[in-house]
Amino acid sequence: MKNFYITTAIDYVNGSPHLGHAYEKVLADVIARFRRLQGDRVFFLTGVDEHGQKVQQSARKRGIPPQQFCDEVSEEFRALCAKLNISNDDFIRTTEPRHKTLVRALLQRLFDQGEIYRAEYRGFYSTRQEQFLQDKDRNPDGTWPELYGEVTEITESNYFFKLRAYQEWLVGYLKENENFVFPRYRQKQVLEFLAEPLNDLCISRPKERLEWGIPLPFDENYVTYVWFDALVNYYTAVVDKPGFWPADLHVIGKDILVPPHAVYWPIMLKALGLEPPRALLAHGWWSINGKKMSKSTGNFVEPVAFADQYGVDALRYFLIREMSVGQDSDFSQAQFLARYNSELANNLGNLVNRVLNMTNRFAGGIIPAPEVDEGAFEQDEQALRLSWGLVCKHLIGFNDESGKRYPGAYEKFEFHSALASLFESFAATNTYIEKRAPWKLGKSTAASDRALLLTSLAMMAEALRIGATLLRPVMPGTADKIFAALGHTPHATWDPGLNDKKETIMNELTWGTRLTGNKVAESAILFPRPEPKK
Ligand code: MSP
Repeated sequence: MKNFYITTAIDYVNGSPHLGHAYEKVLADVIARFRRLQGDRVFFLTGVDEHGQKVQQSARKRGIPPQQFCDEVSEEFRALCAKLNISNDDFIRTTEPRHKTLVRALLQRLFDQGEIYRAEYRGFYSTRQEQFLQDKDRNPDGTWPELYGEVTEITESNYFFKLRAYQEWLVGYLKENENFVFPRYRQKQVLEFLAEPLNDLCISRPKERLEWGIPLPFDENYVTYVWFDALVNYYTAVVDKPGFWPADLHVIGKDILVPPHAVYWPIMLKALGLEPPRALLAHGWWSINGKKMSKSTGNFVEPVAFADQYGVDALRYFLIREMSVGQDSDFSQAQFLARYNSELANNLGNLVNRVLNMTNRFAGGIIPAPEVDEGAFEQDEQALRLSWGLVCKHLIGFNDESGKRYPGAYEKFEFHSALASLFESFAATNTYIEKRAPWKLGKSTAASDRALLLTSLAMMAEALRIGATLLRPVMPGTADKIFAALGHTPHATWDPGLNDKKETIMNELTWGTRLTGNKVAESAILFPRPEPKK
């Protein structure tokens, strides 16, 4: 059994959760759930980033102490995870003692090793981005880009981490590990960034400018730069869990790849004598109705309210089906409803209802054994089985005769195309049902028609069982409802936690007769017509 440690970025608590936060958690959750199905021992971490200028400012605006502010907002992020059915094993807050203690211990270690030094620094500082700027950050006309807000020149004595000393090591590491960053072209962006000499990283902020942070262990007049603090969260969560470092995958947005995750973090770890993470997945950004999301202009989707209105799994499905991992995508209600109606309600929802209705009508609600011998399957039955076999291979991957492993779409993060194939198979199953027309066979008195009818009922139920198994990482609640409606208890254990998994998805994906004799539900409402917004 393999350990698999996956994380999301930790979200700033200066505002409420938005659709981008929701997406990242769902994406990481799909990967975590898929890995558990594969039999991995998964540890899945998410959480919140609570220190820094922005949080300090937001708390001040509200007129409450920053800790109280963080306590409140972090609950919203926790609630988002619960609402979205995220299977995280831990939820970290950077204001927790376990984290602060570790950050200070690591800083002290680096200081003692001579990796941190004190120096005068004179430079241009952006309050909004909480960072010193360089000439290369300027617009061609010499002004500062808007994203930096107000920029002032200041002189300060600060502490610096020797980033530069590890530049060559990092370049070598990236060249040796071509798949460190997904998508691959983003790895090139990291190398381009490293083509210029790195500056050492200023890791301190004087307390008179910023109080809300972790005090430096070797100089209490300063707090720790928020990124240095935040990145350590990934290590804090597993420092007492042997076998989970290095992290297997950090799921992050494209905006925080270079430099924090692809440059600072591996170098911080290297300097500490710890292994760098195995891989980074940088996803794209959502716009809404073709425009940047923004609370102030009202171009905003509140994920919890949206899930309440349309169903958690429908939202999860849309996020994963619509966005090709790594690229940007647009969210619109119209596109959401189009997929909801045609793919969820009409395709999958219809299939489930047909299976239940017809099993009740023609077989007394008990899933029959196929009456036609497998060897004597008609063409349509052969075709149906074949199509499901192919989609299993496509999504999950397979081993050939020599044992060589071919990774599936899920393993390659091709979730949107995986779902497209899966829903084609649901559609093919609907087509099969229409062709077999059990409602016609049911009227015939010929024994061969009865045999074909029962076989078709068994086939469509089995197709649905396999389909629900493949769907489960993306739509866990829906898959479980389908299993329940089919009277089926999966053999694989696939719930979160570090418990050992006895069976894996492979057992669940063999086409067979394990549903024979099960009592099906009367009906199941998976995708109700959405309630009109009040
Ligand atoms: N606190 C830092 C991360 C520290 S990780 C050690 C941060 N927080 S954030 O709240 O601004 O962003 C959290 C995540 O949400 C990031 O990975 C970011 O890319 C992602 N998203 C923010 N807006 C987004 C979209 N519009 N679309 C998709 N994801 C987006 O950065």
